[in-house]
Amino acid sequence: MTVLVVDFGAQYAQLIARRVREARVYSEIVQSSITAEEVRAKNPTAIILSGGPKSVYEVPAPSLDPAIYELGVPMLGICYGAQLMALQLGGEVAHTGGGEYGRTELTRQGPSPLMEEWPATQSCWMSHGDAIARAPEGFVVTASTPLAPVAVMEDASRRLYATQFHPEVAHSERGQELLENFLHHVAEIPPTWTNTSIIDDQVAAIRAQVGEERVLCALSGGVDSAVAAALVTKAIGTQLTCVFVDTGLMRKNEGEQIEATFTRQFGVRLIHVKAQDRFFDALAGVTNPERKRKIIGELFIREFETVARELAEGDEGPRFLVQGTLYPDVIESGSGHAANIKSHHNVGGLPEDLSFELIEPLRSLFKDEVRHVGEELGLPAEIVWRQPFPGPGLGVRIIGEVTRERAEILRNADHVVVDEIKKAGLYRELWQSFAVLPAVRTVGVMGDGRTYAYPIVIRAVTSDDAMTADWARLPYDVIESIANRLIREVPGVNRVALDVTSKPPGTIEWE
Ligand code: XMP
Repeated sequence: MTVLVVDFGAQYAQLIARRVREARVYSEIVQSSITAEEVRAKNPTAIILSGGPKSVYEVPAPSLDPAIYELGVPMLGICYGAQLMALQLGGEVAHTGGGEYGRTELTRQGPSPLMEEWPATQSCWMSHGDAIARAPEGFVVTASTPLAPVAVMEDASRRLYATQFHPEVAHSERGQELLENFLHHVAEIPPTWTNTSIIDDQVAAIRAQVGEERVLCALSGGVDSAVAAALVTKAIGTQLTCVFVDTGLMRKNEGEQIEATFTRQFGVRLIHVKAQDRFFDALAGVTNPERKRKIIGELFIREFETVARELAEGDEGPRFLVQGTLYPDVIESGSGHAANIKSHHNVGGLPEDLSFELIEPLRSLFKDEVRHVGEELGLPAEIVWRQPFPGPGLGVRIIGEVTRERAEILRNADHVVVDEIKKAGLYRELWQSFAVLPAVRTVGVMGDGRTYAYPIVIRAVTSDDAMTADWARLPYDVIESIANRLIREVPGVNRVALDVTSKPPGTIEWE
């Protein structure tokens, strides 16, 4: 029951894959170099060709093994994918001059299972330079726009369909409906990919993989490791041991919450390593950001390793390790170039001589799907909807030396920022919102006395994937309540500033 989304570049394919899953159908992204043989081996129920940034006439431009059209699998081409289908099957694609960008009116030209019960005209979202000038033989044109005479074309007998506009973008009013018509009616795929089915499938897979063996999982406090651990618990219960290394650089109450959830609610054996002292000792006097990251990362591994070796002392040591790898990580490492950007982020990576077999139950899921699975498994909303947090934790938000005292100031300040953002109902809208502690002190006055204390910087950004980000336009009254509370409630703070740098040129974190 898999739909293949063929990737012709940029981010289009990921969005389509997510929309297909929203229609409750499982989808996978494949490269455009895939051969008909490879497609056949995957036995897909439908194929969608994505849009892409190129013109079909550019050299080189990505193409498709033409034998794929002969497999008898229902296909839908979108934008670039539509033009490629037209060209490869004997139609014509022309440079239309200016191209068509943004909202356009789509006019129907005849009945179509993709647009059943649509009005005669409908707004849709376009983004193309070239356009299909003539549909291939066997196709009928079922909709057009002012600059795209062939906006939708279809060959019902071969179940080949193509749309010039983008049904996957939210601006195409009935785009999702078009995708669902294609999936459920044309390709006849029932909407059975649900959170419950994901959980059931993974539970069965984990049981088959693990048998009676024992499993280890490092909980970080983040969403991914928590959901992965909850899934594994559901599958094999007490065969799982979780390890939570408290570095002293976690958010407020993070450790307690993890402990409460996994120990009390799920009844999992949790080893809570209170390693704060060792982390602060190792970080004493260190101010260089890369050094800090390295120290924290290496010490984390050493702490985890110690636990793993102790558990392995008996002959019943864990043989499997749970990792919260997500689908975007898998796609990114597959395409080669994005992997490097992230590698320095992989604090918590494990030494190679600890030879575990990996369990990656979230490998096929997008982040929003992981959150929904987490909710379904009964994890508390605070864990499931938590914003991303860097592996080195508060360590990269304390500029200059990381000490126990400064970590405490920042932890309390961060709690105030997050609390006010939550009260304002903005927490889920923002990619991240947190506090930063700079390495300067400034003069202030409080009551009758002068103060000489730290400022706190408020950092709040919107983003889709952390690759780019914009500073969030927080309402003034929210900034005001954060500032008031920071100065009133957090000893050691006497001034508040707001970071208005987007990424690029800034990064989201300060170090
Ligand atoms: P930057 O600061 O590079 O961060 O714009 C992009 C995203 O990655 C997170 N981040 C990290 N995550 N280990 C992680 O697991 C790290 O060392 C790390 N550094 C940054 C950051 O919070 C943001 O979401």
